[in-house]
Amino acid sequence: MRKPMIAGNWKLHKTLDEACGLVSEIIPAVASNQDVEIVVAPVFTALSKVAEILSGSNIKLAAQNCYPEPQGAFTGEVSPLFLKDVGCHYVIIGHSERRQIFGETNDFINAKARALADAGLGTIFCIGETLEERESDQMFDVLRHQVRLGLKNLSTEQMSNVVIAYEPIWAIGTGVTASDEQAQEAHAFIRALVKELYNPKVADATRILYGGSVKPGNVDGLMTQPDVDGALVGGASLKAADFARIVNFEKV
Ligand code: 13P
Repeated sequence: MRKPMIAGNWKLHKTLDEACGLVSEIIPAVASNQDVEIVVAPVFTALSKVAEILSGSNIKLAAQNCYPEPQGAFTGEVSPLFLKDVGCHYVIIGHSERRQIFGETNDFINAKARALADAGLGTIFCIGETLEERESDQMFDVLRHQVRLGLKNLSTEQMSNVVIAYEPIWAIGTGVTASDEQAQEAHAFIRALVKELYNPKVADATRILYGGSVKPGNVDGLMTQPDVDGALVGGASLKAADFARIVNFEKV
């Protein structure tokens, strides 16, 4: 059985005080939920303080990015070693905003995936197609390429720390979510791909989250799909009540 995961990607939002306030509101609202793995990903500058507030709660901490080398002359970067040091359990990599705005390649994302595996940190590995790619029937090729290159050289054992997030770029921050059927179709394809690259056991155990305009009003339908194992939530994770409602989803 795959334990569902609901993760909030706060992106570049919430100052230190705001982050502490938000997480303090989320904690009581989800405290009774033991069925879902709950994750929040604040900005780097809030990680340490948020980690203190989360201590003893059922919420885990994630970072939004990392650099693949452990330490050295890499001005401005933060590595898995340092993220582990402040209490992170997971790191998000491969987000389309990093691919598109910062020009991150599949090879660079793969270096991060391997560094995270070496550091024993969990990875939330994002993939997804643009609207143009979907409309020109390239979606499956794009997803295959991103998965093959992004997870290259990760062992079967290391895959147990990897969560895949399918985030169609056209659905991110647009209010247009993938339909339940579109999400299921992509997730089933990704699971089949993991089976092909690894084995049926890894495919069965790997969680695949959906991301892109997940809201309280659409989470229940998405979570009812057999291959949707959770959600990576952007905008709606910035409001405690909305995030808590998503965490406490109901299967319809
Ligand atoms: P939105 O939920 O705001 O569409 O963002 C999704 C996302 O990019 C999560 O990583």
